[in-house]
Amino acid sequence: MPFPVERPRRLRATGPLRSLVAEHRLHPGELILPMFVREELTEPASITSMPGVVQHSRESLVKAAAEAVDAGVGGLMLFGVPAVRDARGSGADDPDGVLNVALRDVVEAVGDRTVVMADLCLDEFTDHGHCGVLDDAGAVDNDATLERYASMGLAQAAAGAKVLGLSGMMDGQVGYVRAALDGAGYSDVVLLAYAAKYASAFYGPFREAVDSQLKGDRRTYQQDSANGREALREVRLDVAEGADIVMVKPALPYLDVLAAVAREVDVPVWAYQVSGEYAMVEAAAANGWIDRERAITEALVSIKRAGAGAVLTYWAAEVARALG
Ligand code: PBG
Repeated sequence: MPFPVERPRRLRATGPLRSLVAEHRLHPGELILPMFVREELTEPASITSMPGVVQHSRESLVKAAAEAVDAGVGGLMLFGVPAVRDARGSGADDPDGVLNVALRDVVEAVGDRTVVMADLCLDEFTDHGHCGVLDDAGAVDNDATLERYASMGLAQAAAGAKVLGLSGMMDGQVGYVRAALDGAGYSDVVLLAYAAKYASAFYGPFREAVDSQLKGDRRTYQQDSANGREALREVRLDVAEGADIVMVKPALPYLDVLAAVAREVDVPVWAYQVSGEYAMVEAAAANGWIDRERAITEALVSIKRAGAGAVLTYWAAEVARALG
């Protein structure tokens, strides 16, 4: 008989049927919105390479945070853009630094309704733009940087952050910050390890978003895109050091890594759909070259299909709202 024995198309016949057999779906509570707050701003400032995303003032941040929470997002990840920078990133652990002040504002406004998270890294605060402090030869000094991260983590915990996102890719950072937090009575503060973070061209627009001072690149600490197995080593170390959640970043170009990590560990695995992933879709859509909403949904579902629990995405509030 020439007839097909199996007919997979049968389950694709109608929208309701496809919905019923869908293996993955998006949920607002699994979307986390990254937000930027810039010191001394009185009005939100647009970011050219990220249409629709802004650097917030203190006031506009609180308002947008409440709107995102009302839309149903699961959490907020805050990044600070200081007015003044120095070699050691003093603004990062200053209780009056822009990020710590903003954390207090947002925790006070929506802290009982959402999970407020803080980026724990020095790059926004250093005048050289690196994620750590430099040694005499100008190289990033891993162990001296750990001291700074511990101090920054304590300041963020004191400001009310519930999750600290360790994005600096220094060796030993998770264990070091965990010990500092526990020693100060912050044993309930969650550590989100950007365990497998790649040196990526897809962070380009973010550099504008945080007014990055970086010349050069981060290849001596962030991972080489050629390496997949190495991600498992980074993840294993971070979990051993006490990471509560691990993350893979960027997302779409690293779905293989995400899937491998999700198979490997029993802690939650998240993904960060980064600025360049956002910018590419927005730029193509603005040119009429791509269906914006469908591309956003497809990218996010793909990230979930690869194994992500929650996803950090600049579209979090919009998608949460659309999902109702
Ligand atoms: C480091 C950090 C970066 C991003 C998040 N945390 C920049 C970098 O590592 O160069 C990038 C996020 C994005 O591109 O959306 N603080």
